[in-house]
Amino acid sequence: MVAGVAESASPSPRSTLVRAEGVHVWDSAGRRYLDAISGAFCVQLGYGRADLAGAMAESASRLPFARPAAFESEESERYARALLEAAGPPFSRVLFTSSGSEAVEVALKAAFRYQRAIGHPDRTRVAHVRGHYHGATLGALRVTDYRPRRAPFEAVLGGGSQAFAEGAGASLEEEVAGAAALIAETIPAAGLGAPVPPPGFITRLRDACEAGRALWIADEVLTGFGRVGGLFAWTRLAEGAEDRGAVPDVVVFGKGAGAGYAPIGGVLLARRVATALDSSPDGPFVHAQTYGGNPIACAVGRRVLSALGEEKIHERVRGKETLLAGALAPLARHPHVRDVRGLGFLRGVELQADRSGTPFPRELGIAERMEAACRDRGVLIYAGAGSADGERGDHLLVAPPLVSDPHHFAEIAIALTQALDEVTGGFP
Ligand SMILES: Cc1ncc(COP(=O)(O)O)c(C=O)c1O
Repeated sequence: MVAGVAESASPSPRSTLVRAEGVHVWDSAGRRYLDAISGAFCVQLGYGRADLAGAMAESASRLPFARPAAFESEESERYARALLEAAGPPFSRVLFTSSGSEAVEVALKAAFRYQRAIGHPDRTRVAHVRGHYHGATLGALRVTDYRPRRAPFEAVLGGGSQAFAEGAGASLEEEVAGAAALIAETIPAAGLGAPVPPPGFITRLRDACEAGRALWIADEVLTGFGRVGGLFAWTRLAEGAEDRGAVPDVVVFGKGAGAGYAPIGGVLLARRVATALDSSPDGPFVHAQTYGGNPIACAVGRRVLSALGEEKIHERVRGKETLLAGALAPLARHPHVRDVRGLGFLRGVELQADRSGTPFPRELGIAERMEAACRDRGVLIYAGAGSADGERGDHLLVAPPLVSDPHHFAEIAIALTQALDEVTGGFP
């Protein structure tokens, strides 16, 4: 291990990546991998994009930096305009950050400030949901219930996670009443393995927040920017008859916004939230961090947004999603697969110890071994745990770049099938 470089949680040894092209990356030993998780669910448009490298170079040579606390830059203004136009009403303001976790922090701070501005300074609790992940920083971890990430910091988070779970404890409506906000992943990925909410679910979130006077914060960090065939997952779900008109108050984004080329994230605010913040007796709402809205990152963000449109990426994902689902579907017949699900180019595979659905003992590290076995076969996937009861429940995620093709889907399915046989072969 190199001094100062964090060790991986994965049992497979770390290798050093040296180059990338299309949907593949190469390590220093010359091994090629099909990147079936788009880096970290962010390389939407694939590697080797001259347009994105060009946008970075152009903006870096013209104006690499503008102090966010004092200035706008042309790039941040242009990107903000383009993003607001793409998001449409009711969103009227965007605040930029340089990661998804930081964007979650901004959303939480904005929710507290909003409640103060409308006369509810006592509303400081944020309702959150069992198994949902919202980031690595302490504020984001406080509303995170993805146990493997949260557990090591429980002592500083001020008590156990009081996350909402369907059918256990308080109802969603009770949970949200009196809260400043409800934060939820639209399709929970890292902690739960991409179960798609049933029709009507986001309407229920909307209604519960309306009744409880809490803001609905949609965490779209992983699901945004084409991943499920729309700008955001909620926009796609809201196309269904049961969810038409269900619009969040705050949308958190990151990852795919920069397509793996630049660290950019942020928060979209609905007009009523932005207006309330502007009228706050506390003065303007600011979240000044050195690289928030950095011109180079914004130039990349604007280029990504243009490419999504020019290359009809949302349509492409919708056109090919059934082929991806079809390639993975046979896995469901495997005795150690409980479910295969997902939307667009975000797919989850939930594993089981036996056909009754009992999860594997966590100490076996089945998901991590699956990740390593796929990697041995030249395919990169994501291993997660806790989808059954917070501790147990192994799941895998597959989320290839949005420019990948059916022959890549077949390669991913073969690697997963062989890895399943290898890893679960000793079990009945
Ligand atoms: C849903 C969700 N929210 C927030 C984050 C945090 O984003 P970042 O890693 O950019 O800080 C992640 C990262 O995986 C995520 O999946």
